[in-house]
Amino acid sequence: MQSKKSKVLTVSIIVAKAKNNVIGKDNQLIWKLSADLKHFKKHTTGHFIIMGRKTYESMGKPLPNRTSIVITRNSEYSIPEGHYIVHDLQDALELTKKNHQEKVFIIGGGEIYKQALAFTDELLITEVDCHPEGDTYFPSIDPEDWKIVQKETHQKDEKNEYDFSFITYKRA
Ligand SMILES: NC(=O)c1ccc[n+]([C@@H]2O[C@H](COP(=O)([O-])OP(=O)(O)OC[C@H]3O[C@@H](n4cnc5c(N)ncnc54)[C@H](OP(=O)(O)O)[C@@H]3O)[C@@H](O)[C@H]2O)c1
Repeated sequence: MQSKKSKVLTVSIIVAKAKNNVIGKDNQLIWKLSADLKHFKKHTTGHFIIMGRKTYESMGKPLPNRTSIVITRNSEYSIPEGHYIVHDLQDALELTKKNHQEKVFIIGGGEIYKQALAFTDELLITEVDCHPEGDTYFPSIDPEDWKIVQKETHQKDEKNEYDFSFITYKRA
């Protein structure tokens, strides 16, 4: 007989951050990196994605082929059918589990990354080789807590304005 044990949820943060941890300015991304957009799409397609209200508004609408969960304190906020509004991160994770997901992606922004880090199993970090000015940051991670399991470095080219690395961290 098949076990009815519930699946374990892997929580994965996906982010592109500069060397100085800047991730955004004026509610926008600050670099043109076509390879990173493809990387983001490849990993998140088909999954639930959790984000703060400001990140959702910076995109303007739900991303195709993904289920969006938007966190806001506003009880009147609305979003197109098939996507969800919640009022804290724990509710977002519970909702994901109730929908029998094995993996969920936290896609930002700064406030949500900061709150989610303690509940995260995996970090998919695109480290962008620049030190821009910005107003939103990824929290610094404790190297004691995380180990690099994969790293792939790329040079800038006509579609990617800086050198960058795709780095995967797991809990140490
Ligand atoms: N480089 C990257 O990979 C990346 C990825 C994503 C975003 N970004 C950038 O990050 C910036 C946006 O980040 P941000 O930190 O300003 O905003 P954010 O984290 O996207 O959203 C913040 C909002 O989330 C809601 N929220 C946060 N904590 C909550 C809680 N505990 N309970 C209920 N609601 C909560 C609040 O919405 P209400 O005000 O509606 O209550 C809050 O104003 C933009 O510049 C964006 O481009 C970069």
